[in-house]
Amino acid sequence: MKSKILSVLRHSDDYVSGEDLSRCLGVTRTAVWKNINLLKDEGYNIHSVRNKGYKLESSPDLLDKELIIDKLSPSVIGTKIEILKTIDSTNEEVKRRASRGEASGLVIGAEEQTAGKGRFGRLWKSDNGGLYFSVLLRPELPPSEIAAITLAAGFAVCNAVRDYTNCDAQIKWPNDIIIGNKKICGILTEMAAQSDRLDYVVIGIGINVNHCTFPDEIQHKATSLFLETNQKTDRNDFFAAVLKSLDTVMQSFLVSLSIDDVNRFKELCATLGRNVSLERSGTVIQGIAEDINLSGELIINSNGKKITVNSGEVTVQGIY
Ligand code: BTN
Repeated sequence: MKSKILSVLRHSDDYVSGEDLSRCLGVTRTAVWKNINLLKDEGYNIHSVRNKGYKLESSPDLLDKELIIDKLSPSVIGTKIEILKTIDSTNEEVKRRASRGEASGLVIGAEEQTAGKGRFGRLWKSDNGGLYFSVLLRPELPPSEIAAITLAAGFAVCNAVRDYTNCDAQIKWPNDIIIGNKKICGILTEMAAQSDRLDYVVIGIGINVNHCTFPDEIQHKATSLFLETNQKTDRNDFFAAVLKSLDTVMQSFLVSLSIDDVNRFKELCATLGRNVSLERSGTVIQGIAEDINLSGELIINSNGKKITVNSGEVTVQGIY
């Protein structure tokens, strides 16, 4: 009911009377009044004037499903969207839904994650002002394509950030998005698979949007859209832009990844051409990041020897 009232107020430039609201939503005027008060408690600035009704003056900076859906016409990603106030981890929630048979395209976003997950079992802190969400896909691909899926997701987010902010965002292979050598986005892809076929893939994305500061220990390597642009970003609008980009990129990618696709990824990849090091089974490999292949894997030239890397943490000289 709250969201229906909100929707009516949003679509009206003038005051809407309590009577009109109760008639249009089929509820009593007392119910309208109670829900208006609930919305005010949530931070919506609703002006009420006797004999005129209610007018929405401003909204709090909260993720709002209606505002996001309004801007989308998804083919797969975003066909179902849920916004949660708090959850352990959006990746975990999407995995729970996937195991209960949820269809491809589900997006779950959350204002707060109490146990947000980063790569390599690290914790992902989900401070206010960020965008934290996970996408469920059920691609008909073999598990070996997981590196390419992650890369495609990173490419989609990177493009959305570039288009939305004009910032020179790049991909730090395989799945960080950086601006000026600092991270603004991390992606954690998880999957469930049979031996030859993916059952589902969960793409979890965390973006630093309106953060003004970061804790001392990560300040040298983290940035946000706010710090880069000096402007607060409307998270609902930006969320819609990211989902649109993901929907477009993943649709074409899930059919096949062409040389042209890979070349477009490569243009945005900050890792290529740089000195990198990587730990593999206890030994440190050093070399130059030379190429990305059709499976999204990184090719490192280590003293003339080509090494193909599909996971693991790559340290890139010059980037955190
Ligand atoms: C990384 O850079 O280590 C990956 C971070 C991924 C964080 C996102 S936030 C939304 C989703 N839910 C999680 O628990 N993790 C991902």
